Amino acid sequence: MKVYSGLAGIPVVKSSISYIDGERGILEYRGIPIQELVEHSDFLETAYLLVFGKLPAKEEYTRFVSDVKENQYLDMSVLNFLKELPKTTHPMKVLQSVIPVLSAYDKNTDVLDPQHHYSSLVKMLGQVPVITALWKRISVGENIVEPDSSLSYSENFLYMITGRRPDPVEGRVFDRCLILHAEHTMNASTFTAVVAVSTLADFYSAVSSAVGSLSGRLHGGANEKVYQMLSKIDSPEKIPAFIDRMLQNKKRIMGFGHRVYKTYDPRAKLLKKMLTEISSLKGGSRLIKTAEVFEKEALKRLESKKIYPNIDFYSGVLYSILGIPSRFYTSVFAMARIAGWVAHCKEYVKENKLFRPTQVYDGGHNIHYVPPEKRG
Ligand code: SDX
Repeated sequence: MKVYSGLAGIPVVKSSISYIDGERGILEYRGIPIQELVEHSDFLETAYLLVFGKLPAKEEYTRFVSDVKENQYLDMSVLNFLKELPKTTHPMKVLQSVIPVLSAYDKNTDVLDPQHHYSSLVKMLGQVPVITALWKRISVGENIVEPDSSLSYSENFLYMITGRRPDPVEGRVFDRCLILHAEHTMNASTFTAVVAVSTLADFYSAVSSAVGSLSGRLHGGANEKVYQMLSKIDSPEKIPAFIDRMLQNKKRIMGFGHRVYKTYDPRAKLLKKMLTEISSLKGGSRLIKTAEVFEKEALKRLESKKIYPNIDFYSGVLYSILGIPSRFYTSVFAMARIAGWVAHCKEYVKENKLFRPTQVYDGGHNIHYVPPEKRG
């Protein structure tokens, strides 16, 4: 039997949630090009589209937004749980440990009952950004900022994590970042979620498992690593040598390359465009210049191998301008990807089949036990 390492190019589900053309750099959510959703939609409407398969009618949207906002208030025991954690706990570890606890407050968690999917979704969409923002405030000893329901979903997150009400442009830019991070076919963390739910584990367990998978630097963890990499460079002149050294040492350049895109990631293009917009409003930053020169120099060396910037290359630079600390960049990715994870879990359990692949065994047989005193 052949081993398909990393299941590269192997279909494991049939799905109508999103579509990627890796050669032409196309991404569609439920058939709608990502560019149109970024232009006309907002994150919660996009989340509804992904999970329920259609753009919501006006009253459906209004109810969905209010149900999510209703869930922006944590139970005191969750807040106390956060306060007991070591302040150095990485925000993704906090999410991975707290999300399953949220199921204690949701009696409707049977994944085989489609009525229960809605309550898990609105609870996680409401509480995960609040937990992320609260963790930033608690972990650095700042005062806790209560949710402000007069603000939009995205504005409220920026307000709670920075302690400053964002201007509408900042809120809109951040909301578009969430749209871009919401879904991406069968990536590693979505596959993790679907494997978990295929055992009929609940959506909270599936999402918590997916958070663990997303945290790796080959996946969502790359955005924080890109920021650290670019921040180390104190002048653009040093970039060519910096990249050459990395490649000579066989180091992966974070924020570059993709299993599916063999051209520029369309999301990276949109993030770069938004970065230009917001920097004209907020004033440029050294990091933007460094990122642009880095991209140019890296492409000189990698384009021939079809290695281009991916979604993680510019996202962190943008978040830094919005005042989000780099340790939280992957948690922001997770906040958005809850929509895609829940969408795929909901779709998969409709015709559920437990994931249980096999292996090619290349070990020994009938080996006898050796008592400790007789071992080498
Ligand atoms: C995300 O799957 C998704 O959809 C993920 C995602 C989503 O929305 O869910 O898009 C989000 O995770 C984006 C990717 C974030 N990760 C990074 O930026 C980490 C750096 N990127 C790489 O590690 C890499 O590009 C992967 C892991 C993303 C994809 O790698 P593949 O497809 O498994 O390819 P590979 O590891 O087999 O590499 C093929 C060749 C190798 O060279 P050779 O050994 O053949 O000479 O390309 C080289 C690699 O060394 N290569 C890189 C590189 N990526 C691939 N060389 C330098 N820097 C890189 N970033």
